[in-house]
Amino acid sequence: VKTLLFTPGPLSTSDRVRAALDRDWGSRENDFIGLTRSVRDTLVRLAGGDERHTCVPLQGSGTFAVEAALDSFAPQTGKTLVLVNGAYGRRAVDILTRLGRAHLVHETAETELPAAADIVDLLNDNPDVTAVFMVHCETTTGIVNPLRDVQSIAAARGLMLIVDAMSSFGCFDLGAVLEDDGIVVASANKCLQGVPGIGFVIVRRTTIASAAGRARSLSLDLHAQWAELERSGQWRFTPPVQVVAAMQAALLELQDEGGIAARRARYTANRDTIVRRFAEMGLAPVLRPGLQSPVIVTFPLPKELVERFGEFHQRLASRGFVIYPGKLTRQPTFRVGCIGALIPQDMAALADQLAAVLHELGIAVPVAT
Ligand SMILES: Cc1ncc(COP(=O)(O)O)c(C=O)c1O
Repeated sequence: VKTLLFTPGPLSTSDRVRAALDRDWGSRENDFIGLTRSVRDTLVRLAGGDERHTCVPLQGSGTFAVEAALDSFAPQTGKTLVLVNGAYGRRAVDILTRLGRAHLVHETAETELPAAADIVDLLNDNPDVTAVFMVHCETTTGIVNPLRDVQSIAAARGLMLIVDAMSSFGCFDLGAVLEDDGIVVASANKCLQGVPGIGFVIVRRTTIASAAGRARSLSLDLHAQWAELERSGQWRFTPPVQVVAAMQAALLELQDEGGIAARRARYTANRDTIVRRFAEMGLAPVLRPGLQSPVIVTFPLPKELVERFGEFHQRLASRGFVIYPGKLTRQPTFRVGCIGALIPQDMAALADQLAAVLHELGIAVPVAT
């Protein structure tokens, strides 16, 4: 059975992206140096940056890049305000705690946006805050956090803004963040539709140039990684060469699709299909429609499946349809990713399979949640 991944990454990739893995590259050879250069330049442009900005790629998953960004940029004397409404905001808090960097946490409900007025009040009360960290699309629920509001609050006060754009990069325009000197962190295997193995940070050259010697970690030191890439064009340590090649194929594929707006339109059609079809079975997203990204949708788990999620998941998976467990703290849920090499017909096929599995399990439709 061909498997389709309705997950937030790693996700279903195209034949073209996987075909790009089928070559060996010497990491110190000119063609790989050129490949790295081209991928970095394309990512800066895709983020809406220009010659003032640079892209620093890093081996590893998205979390490695978030940790590297916090280690390399979070203030050592001031505090970082972390906006939390899901697991990835909480993970940033864990990272800062481990790094021993002072921070302040503003935690709000997972299904609501943080209010701009509350953030302003908090900053007024805490003048030692010099940086703000936020997750743009919080993949825990699929909520799109108020990037523009936070960005203008940070910019008005001259605060550094670090944005975890892991699940929004490639689907949303992030140019305004870079215009205001913000730092964008993302990875290869979400809306860019590459294979896993690289994260990256996009930042002003002046910001990274002033980050020398800040990171405590050797391998996650973004300034050192950048300095070597600028000096020799080479990565400091073994690069995932095939993953970089797949990333280039994924970037060309994005361009051929028509860029970020076209990709968002496809994801939106995917999301609308699954929301409509699941509604017919009694399943409505946990988020209000205005907050719902086209990236991933969280549904309440039908009551009769709360104790049987493993079996439910396995039955769908054995039919070739992989869904994702929920991560909400207050309610049993499951998630359906709308990103990757998927089209609305795939979403409709998932809905058909869900109906079949509910039937197999003897669960009446519409389901009770
Ligand atoms: C918003 C966000 N931040 C960070 C991460 C962590 O990325 P990874 O699982 O690749 O380490 C994810 C992964 O799903 C994410 O969605």
